[in-house]
Amino acid sequence: MKGLVILAAVVTVTSAQGNAGSRNPIFHIECGDSFGDRVTIGTEVPVGRYPWLAVIGRIDPFEEGFFNAECGGTLITNRHVLSAAHCFAKTFKPNLVRLGEHNVTSNDDGAQDFTISRIILDEYSFTTKQNDVALITLDRDVTFNPRIQPICLPFRSDLRHNKFVGNLMTVAGWGRTEDPDSRGSDVPLEAQVQVVTLDRCQEAYGSITLPSPIVESQLCAGTGGADTCGGDSGGPLHYLDLQEERYYLAGITSFGKTGKCGSAEFPGVYSRVGSYLEWLEFNIL
Ligand SMILES: *[C@@H]1O[C@H](CO)[C@@H](O)[C@H](O)[C@H]1NC(C)=O
Repeated sequence: MKGLVILAAVVTVTSAQGNAGSRNPIFHIECGDSFGDRVTIGTEVPVGRYPWLAVIGRIDPFEEGFFNAECGGTLITNRHVLSAAHCFAKTFKPNLVRLGEHNVTSNDDGAQDFTISRIILDEYSFTTKQNDVALITLDRDVTFNPRIQPICLPFRSDLRHNKFVGNLMTVAGWGRTEDPDSRGSDVPLEAQVQVVTLDRCQEAYGSITLPSPIVESQLCAGTGGADTCGGDSGGPLHYLDLQEERYYLAGITSFGKTGKCGSAEFPGVYSRVGSYLEWLEFNIL
């Protein structure tokens, strides 16, 4: 059974490379393969289901060795992580990326720490909250293992321009936000959210002043309520391609719905990764 799964993965990798186009270095690596069980049991993410999940934070200079988790991120190559720009738009920026993490309070689950050597932000604006995307370069190459794997980026033309309205996606993370009061969860949680139209999203926020209209480079998902939990600022909105049996990064959690279950009544707003692929290709080194 295990052999079959691996064989299927090898076959789909070949076809994914066939779609790749020539210049993009990202598609020359295997991506989006989940070694974890895909059957959802509750909201706790089984070990290895989303091996690209990253915890982003700071080593506190005043408290020796204490890691302060602030945001989520997603591993996209063996050297790069995508996250949200707002996580870095402050004086004391996160300086560490932790990969392969599961239970943040236990030290024996094979997590590996990487120092952030470069952060590139798109033209992020605090007032409009648009272009909430950050490209992080790690200090050294990541060695992939079943618990540390890159996700696929939506370069495929049918995904790149897709607004995914009506699609079911999953958000996952420890529920950490840049809010210093956010406690989060020990282990990653996940939730299914359905992508809604930008109009519907705008409407849902109603009288609550949104910083600016939701635009095409954003995605809205979830209709609010206790069903939607998990997810960190900067963490992934996953699209599972059923044909290829692999996960794509459709969105980056931006604002609205982060933190623990039931803490937000509004659709979550995500940066739509398909809008940033050109920027990414230009800036990735
Ligand atoms: C995480 O690890 C700690 C320490 O080993 C343990 O007490 C806690 O129950 C674990 N959390 C979960 C949700 O498994």
